[in-house]
Amino acid sequence: MMRTDSSRRAGESPNSASLWDTPMDIRQYLKEKKMLVDGWLSDCLPAPEQYSEKLFEAMRYSLLAGGKRLRPILMLATAELFSDGQDPLLKNFACAIECIHTYSLIHDDLPAMDDDDLRRGRPTCHIQFSEDIAILAGDALLTLAFELMSRPLSSERAPLQIRALNEIATRAGCLGMVGGQTADVISENGAGEEELVNFIHTRKTAALISAPIIAGAILAGATDRELRGMSEFGRRIGLAFQIIDDLLEIHSDAATLGKSVDSDLRNEKITYPGVFGEDKARSVAHKEVGEAFSYLGPYGDRASALAGIARFFLDRVN
Ligand code: IPE
Ligand code: IPE
Ligand code: MG
Ligand code: MG
Repeated sequence: MMRTDSSRRAGESPNSASLWDTPMDIRQYLKEKKMLVDGWLSDCLPAPEQYSEKLFEAMRYSLLAGGKRLRPILMLATAELFSDGQDPLLKNFACAIECIHTYSLIHDDLPAMDDDDLRRGRPTCHIQFSEDIAILAGDALLTLAFELMSRPLSSERAPLQIRALNEIATRAGCLGMVGGQTADVISENGAGEEELVNFIHTRKTAALISAPIIAGAILAGATDRELRGMSEFGRRIGLAFQIIDDLLEIHSDAATLGKSVDSDLRNEKITYPGVFGEDKARSVAHKEVGEAFSYLGPYGDRASALAGIARFFLDRVN
């Protein structure tokens, strides 16, 4: 999707205007970081146990199915903004956020939720295995995330580790993603208002996009003021991400997206294009990214990776 001039002006501050045009090759950056994260993910799963092998097979199937790994990458890019990004805690936290995201997708696809049969280009977990195993694989990935984040590494880092874990837990739970999913499933009638669609999108999606950003910043020693800025940056790009996702579901196809494209329509979901129309939805997404850039302004070129990821959220095709 092409950026429009009006969207480019939206939310720009003198310091943030150039972030639209930073020369960084973000696709190469995403590719390299994805390879790193994929390796970590494959290591983080416990060895299967006899009699419950199916559970491990299902966890592996969904976790290693080839997602974009945007949430762990956002965590790494944020940690690199505030530090050298070499913190050993990052590996466990990056895996944890992807485990939580993958669990949310497995449960989101269940017949009781969106009832979808395609995810990450392959049959959804409950189709490939069974509903009971898919529920349990989701439960196990969520729990594994907390085991990983609480794994002791060094006593001096423990306070930061607990603070980062607390932020992720809050944003993943009833005040975050799970709360948003609840409003999403009980409001399935296509009609909706601005306030409701904002409630749903900021929680079901933006909360899990800002969580790794905030956790990465905490682990890297960001100040409270910096954390507030990064939280707002995450909320805005997260909202843009879900708006673009709603638009892709209308305009793309299952082969490109790796997931079904009739889900929102079939379930009469409240979406941004549904409430505002496609043009307005697209311009809100661009405006949110423009406003998000104002929180990166103080960091100049050092924020190129985060800015590139935010731009990618608008341009992505899957
Ligand atoms: C899909 O997220 C779910 C939404 C929040 C829209 P992603 O598009 O990041 O999914 P994967 O991880 O790449 O499969
Ligand atoms: C995405 O919800 C958010 C979560 C899974 C928590 P959607 O239902 O809109 O996303 P897709 O289209 O299934 O990926
Ligand atoms: Mg859903
Ligand atoms: Mg869904």
